[in-house]
Amino acid sequence: MYRDPLTGQSREITVWCSNDYLGMGQNETVQQAMADAALEQGAGVGGTRNISGTNHLHVALERELADLHGKEAGLIFTSGYVSNLAALGTLAANLKDCVVLSDRLNHASMIEAMRWSKAEKVIFEHNDMADLESKLRMLDPDRPKIIAFESCYSMEGDFAPIGTICDLAEKYNALTYLDEVHAVGLYGLHGGGVSERDQQAHRIDVIEGTLAKAFGCMGGYIAANSDIVDFVRSYASAFIFTTALPPSLTAGALQAVRHLKDSQQERLKLQERAAALKSKLRAAQLPFMMSESHIVPVLVGDARRCREASDILLEDHNIYVQPINYPTVPRGTERLRFTPGPMHTDADMDNLVEALKATWDRLSLSAAA
Ligand SMILES: Cc1ncc(COP(=O)(O)O)c(C=O)c1O
Repeated sequence: MYRDPLTGQSREITVWCSNDYLGMGQNETVQQAMADAALEQGAGVGGTRNISGTNHLHVALERELADLHGKEAGLIFTSGYVSNLAALGTLAANLKDCVVLSDRLNHASMIEAMRWSKAEKVIFEHNDMADLESKLRMLDPDRPKIIAFESCYSMEGDFAPIGTICDLAEKYNALTYLDEVHAVGLYGLHGGGVSERDQQAHRIDVIEGTLAKAFGCMGGYIAANSDIVDFVRSYASAFIFTTALPPSLTAGALQAVRHLKDSQQERLKLQERAAALKSKLRAAQLPFMMSESHIVPVLVGDARRCREASDILLEDHNIYVQPINYPTVPRGTERLRFTPGPMHTDADMDNLVEALKATWDRLSLSAAA
């Protein structure tokens, strides 16, 4: 339900850009776990992790996340952004003379972590293994290196070649730091992400994830060996000097992670819904950018018209999708980014496609992706 702030009137709208990919934010067992924890243990924890803020839910969640990724230890943070800032930033800042090789499309939180660390940064072209190798080859073999990348890129919807990156990391003596924010809960038999699906998790040094997207709550984490986790726990200012996550969030996230470890239903439905939307867009000759993942971007290619398309969809068709403009994506590739989920029906999709066709006609947008 959307309430217009100017008129005060309410109307039903369909949200097409939520990152609560599996609807776990509405899952009754998750909601119940959150309510129970708040009633039993209070609204907040009253301290940082080191000073009275740690409770058994934090520890249980960290163990669950370590197990999800087949790692020795886990560490939770107040968001996925903070996990990247804290973990990648702390490693890059403290490994002497470290250089970070970073995919060109890495998320702002990793870019900020590298900037803060003051470590040298080398950008390789997006998912371009020849470029990554040529940059690795130029570096001193004994110099500490981290390859930082994502498994599923949220604006393109494409996957990283994780196995090849691990091969290169082994060949050139580099650590691997993988952001699985748009993949945890969604891929792999237990929701361990693309690294689980591709059977590469054991080769990755640090897996970073969020509790805010497929797990429907809030918070972030890393999973790695005990030495790395202890190092980050001991040195990361963004872990040490902030209040720990409240019982409601940790209990909800724990329930969501456990649920998605066992249940395939939501993952299968998501893939089926994404395939259905792509096929309807194809039939309507709308310019969606072909992706293998659950993310379905539709190209507009102009910032002003992208905003106009989004406004028309909301005002005339009760469809909410945010325009994605520069600097989130390069100029000329402005897009509407659709995230179909298990709750979107065929009728919702048909409405969306009709609304897009009308909007494309009205704004004389190109049908070519
Ligand atoms: C690739 C990537 N990493 C990290 C984050 C930050 O995660 P969170 O929203 O939990 O802070 C995002 C957020 O959208 C993201 O897209």
